[in-house]
Amino acid sequence: MDDASAWPEWPVCRVEDIDDPGASGFLVGDGDWPFRGFVVRCDGRLYAYANVCPHARRPLDMLPDEFLIGDGSMIRCSSHGAMFVPETGECVFGPCVGARLLRLEAREDAQGRVIVRAPASLRDERVSAWSGL
Ligand code: FES
Repeated sequence: MDDASAWPEWPVCRVEDIDDPGASGFLVGDGDWPFRGFVVRCDGRLYAYANVCPHARRPLDMLPDEFLIGDGSMIRCSSHGAMFVPETGECVFGPCVGARLLRLEAREDAQGRVIVRAPASLRDERVSAWSGL
């Protein structure tokens, strides 16, 4: 698959369950390599990314849902401290400056759920091409 728009949509949480600013991790798919991602809520908008750091391909959160620094202004990878802009996923500090998180489509549906378009597996071809996993 090379077209992210062909990925399925998944309801991953409710918008009201994420602080603003805040973030929430999710896992979709049920095979050996389920896809892990996270949603960021910032100034009333939603952003979603694969939970894979472009530096060393580790999950960003050491503790569940700990994706943001204290004031919520930046996404931080807990492994080596890379900092990413929530709105773009661009790394602006740390060992992978200029690299970007893998962005996913995210929206709120009429029922107040966060809907994310994502593959069912970390082994998806487009994800593998980005991450090398
Ligand atoms: S794995 Fe994220 S900064 Fe190193």
